[in-house]
Amino acid sequence: MNNIFMSKNNEKVNIRQLEAKDAKQVLDYICTVGGETDNLLFGREGLGISVDEEMRILSQYLVHPVSMLLGCFIGEKLVAVSNISVKERQRIRHIASLGISVIREYWNQGIGTYLMKYMIDYSRKNEQIEVLELEVISDNYRAVELYKSLGFKVIGAMPKAVKIGNSYHENLMMILEL
Ligand SMILES: CC(C)(COP(=O)(O)OP(=O)(O)OC[C@H]1O[C@@H](n2cnc3c(N)ncnc32)[C@H](O)[C@@H]1OP(=O)(O)O)[C@@H](O)C(=O)NCCC(=O)NCCS
Repeated sequence: MNNIFMSKNNEKVNIRQLEAKDAKQVLDYICTVGGETDNLLFGREGLGISVDEEMRILSQYLVHPVSMLLGCFIGEKLVAVSNISVKERQRIRHIASLGISVIREYWNQGIGTYLMKYMIDYSRKNEQIEVLELEVISDNYRAVELYKSLGFKVIGAMPKAVKIGNSYHENLMMILEL
């Protein structure tokens, strides 16, 4: 797949691996996106880690043979992030977890779909990855429908998976066998 695509709004979107130099922008992005939705595992407070720590995380992804952290840029602006992370232990290293987020202003522009397809395509070409897994809050219909449209199946649900304030949310577990 291409590293550049056009959003439905006809804006040029550039996909690339995030690097240590992006650390501050990534942390700001995480606070923004976390403040826009309750569907992630963090809110506007973000991850609570320093730029140095984030630099270390980005560097680790960059040198990892399989796991990968991608950013989508419109001009200089980071508008979406997706990670794929393989398990390390021998007996589960054929499974990779996926995560994705898009800045609300850019929802429904096809960016989430393109990024997911990119990750699936990457996984199909990678010998190690046989199963993709993800978890999604049950009432995050936008995300659940997106994943189903790409072939993911619901294989279970975990009650009380996420606690925001005093309210609990159920997670769906979804997989795609490649
Ligand atoms: C879920 C998310 C990644 C989708 O990204 P996106 O760039 O908006 O996705 P796309 O534009 O490619 O596609 C969205 C699809 O959802 C559909 N959709 C929109 N609202 C919907 C709703 N309420 N119910 C069902 N489907 C809906 C759209 O019709 C579109 O499908 P189409 O292209 O076939 O018309 C994005 O909304 C997001 O980042 N949300 C917040 C973080 C999050 O929930 N991450 C996932 C955690 S598991």
